[in-house]
Amino acid sequence: MKKVGIIFGSSTGTCENIANTIARKLGMSAEDIMNAGEITVDKVNEYEVLLLGTSTWGYGELQDDWCDGINVLKSADLKGKTIALFGCGDSESYSDTFCDAIGLLYQDLKDSGCSIVGKVSPAGYHFSSSIAVVDGMFVGLALDDVNEDDKTEGRIDAWLEEIKTYL
Ligand SMILES: Cc1cc2nc3c(=O)[nH]c(=O)nc-3n(C[C@H](O)[C@H](O)[C@H](O)COP(=O)(O)O)c2cc1C
Repeated sequence: MKKVGIIFGSSTGTCENIANTIARKLGMSAEDIMNAGEITVDKVNEYEVLLLGTSTWGYGELQDDWCDGINVLKSADLKGKTIALFGCGDSESYSDTFCDAIGLLYQDLKDSGCSIVGKVSPAGYHFSSSIAVVDGMFVGLALDDVNEDDKTEGRIDAWLEEIKTYL
């Protein structure tokens, strides 16, 4: 396995739990799971593969810890790195901005020289609009632990199966 790191932003613990679940399934150690508000360029540079997670807050905004985190990532040299995105939201109460923050990370990173893998079909989700959908696919793993927590584990497993060749 390549050197894989997870960076997450989470306000009430949902995305953090998802990050920990992903890490457990990949057999990762705790030091490779980082809060987006605490990363440094040197730390980011250690990894060949980064799994980036964010919940969506406000009206389609990045989780707060990513305000600093995204600037650190953009300062790092991401050329040649593989990045996969995941996140959580609420497709019933925020149907118009469902998991938009995944789309914001994508917009910020897509021209940085990294390759972004792990797209997910929106089939089976129920929402009106999301900027995380590009060309008919979520640009990462979208999860709704508020309304569909029974689907979370299966969706994580399918996504990890999809990206395992890059790990
Ligand atoms: C004030 C507020 C605003 C929210 N805005 C959105 C939103 O725009 N889109 C969305 O998909 N979810 C939205 N959510 C739902 C959260 O993303 C969801 O509860 C998520 O699981 C929180 O994850 P966290 O605990 O990791 O931060 C919002 C929740 C609250 C309370």
